[in-house]
Amino acid sequence: MTPPLQLGILLSGRGSNMQAIHQSITKGKLHAQIKIILSDQPQAGGLAYAKTHGLAHQSIPKIKGESLEDYEKKLLQVLQKAQVDTIVLAGFMRLLSPYFLKHYPDRVLNIHPSLLPNFPGLAAQKQALEAGASESGCTVHFVDEGCDTGPIIDQRRVSVLSTDTVESLSERILKEEHVLYSQVLEKLAQGKIQKKGKQVLVKD
Ligand code: GRF
Repeated sequence: MTPPLQLGILLSGRGSNMQAIHQSITKGKLHAQIKIILSDQPQAGGLAYAKTHGLAHQSIPKIKGESLEDYEKKLLQVLQKAQVDTIVLAGFMRLLSPYFLKHYPDRVLNIHPSLLPNFPGLAAQKQALEAGASESGCTVHFVDEGCDTGPIIDQRRVSVLSTDTVESLSERILKEEHVLYSQVLEKLAQGKIQKKGKQVLVKD
């Protein structure tokens, strides 16, 4: 049995993906421990959940005028102190720099609510609707210095219905996100995901 992943989860908002990951761990479906939950937004719903459930958490807002590197140093200090080995971005609304990423090579993952490389960036569900896409979904990928450009690990698809609004499509995609993130993390825990350069190999 491989050792459990030591997760550091970064979020900016409600944290439903973080909650789904936490529940997978609690149910014994994901071999991981949440070492710390960090938010750049002190009011994030995800922090309130962490508090209620006794999970280590901290808010680290970026101070006006502070350089990105100085800000990331603060994040890294807390993550390293918590002995995190895998970083999970779960609605963290900031780009991480190469400086940050070199501290966790191939160990930073993100989830995005579209079938990347389609519709990167903000409002992905709205982009899909406006483009008239017949399907969309979600993607978990390794993070690189770009915005939603890193090597794709896995995706789940949903049909776009003619009656869909941004809200209804987002809700259906979110359900799939909650399944996908834990599945991918469990495969990572089992050593079934290998990354060579930009190539990702996922074993069943
Ligand atoms: C999700 O749709 C995720 O794909 C995107 O941000 C949203 C975060 O939602 N990166 P939540 O905070 O996990 O509920």
